[in-house]
Amino acid sequence: MARSKITLIGGGQIGGNLALLAAQKELGDVVIFDIPQAEGMTKGKALDISQLLPHDGYDTTITGTSNYEDIKGSDVVIITAGIPRKPGMNREDLLDINLKIITDVANNVKKYAPGAFVIVVSNPLDAIVYAFYKVSGFSKSKVAGMAGALDSSRFRSFIATELNVSVQDVQCMVMGGHGDTMVPIIRSATVGGVPVTDLISAERLEEILNRTRFAGGEIVKLFGNGSAYYAPAQSAIEMAESYLKDKKRVIPCASLCEGEFGIDGFFIGVPSVIGSNGIEKIIEFPLTDEENQNLLKTLEAVKKTVAETKL
Ligand code: APR
Repeated sequence: MARSKITLIGGGQIGGNLALLAAQKELGDVVIFDIPQAEGMTKGKALDISQLLPHDGYDTTITGTSNYEDIKGSDVVIITAGIPRKPGMNREDLLDINLKIITDVANNVKKYAPGAFVIVVSNPLDAIVYAFYKVSGFSKSKVAGMAGALDSSRFRSFIATELNVSVQDVQCMVMGGHGDTMVPIIRSATVGGVPVTDLISAERLEEILNRTRFAGGEIVKLFGNGSAYYAPAQSAIEMAESYLKDKKRVIPCASLCEGEFGIDGFFIGVPSVIGSNGIEKIIEFPLTDEENQNLLKTLEAVKKTVAETKL
């Protein structure tokens, strides 16, 4: 069987880590694409990662490029192109500049990789994934935004630390927008099958949730000149792997809702089944009044940013 081809549009911090993780999981051959000014960096990263592969015997080819022709026939395209947040900036501040970038990217992905499953990571996520979908004309099952996978993994890591248990045994689903407007479904959170609400007081849980909401900002502040990249890369790789291996994992990601949860025409974080047909299904379930209200608040925020895209 021929190897799959994974293209990373944007070879910066997240892009570099995506390349490393894709190679270490042997998901397929990797192409790192960036603008001409950054072509040397993509080639350098490709070489550097290629040279670590013999240690554990990973067989994959990694190349760097600024020529869109090289992304031809990609099975998966992961987009991190754009500029990251600087201290004091919110995700919406990024909209104008990242919108221009995604328009260019979408036109080229449409031209050179029309069959790919596309995972958008660039912020503000909910609007950028919408813009990619509109400009590319891709079917809704082939476009997803990486959001909830990261928010839920952040929450799981905080809960595991709090209780001193394995991260593997903490489960939680986070819906809604990315970050500040996320809607954690706390009643779905379990530790080894036991509801987290039975293990942690409501006050403490609220503190942990708040930390999760602003976890991206916490890292932006600490870095001083960029935003998180290790966990975002791993979250996107989880989505790509589920697609390439037809795992049908249930991963919260920004999918186009057309009636699900009463949302119509917007990408919003919902539990989605990812298999070889892309977003195969959105898992709909009844929300409590509070969850519903919070989701509506997210929707208002998403609508506002999407309106600014004028698409
Ligand atoms: N085409 C392709 N790549 C581009 C383009 C473009 N038109 N414009 C910029 N890039 C590249 C930059 O050259 C840079 O290498 O995108 C890369 C972005 O990398 P970083 O600046 O290191 O940002 P990163 O931390 O990887 O985050 C990328 O993901 O989480 C979001 O908010 C974050 O929007 C940001 C994105």
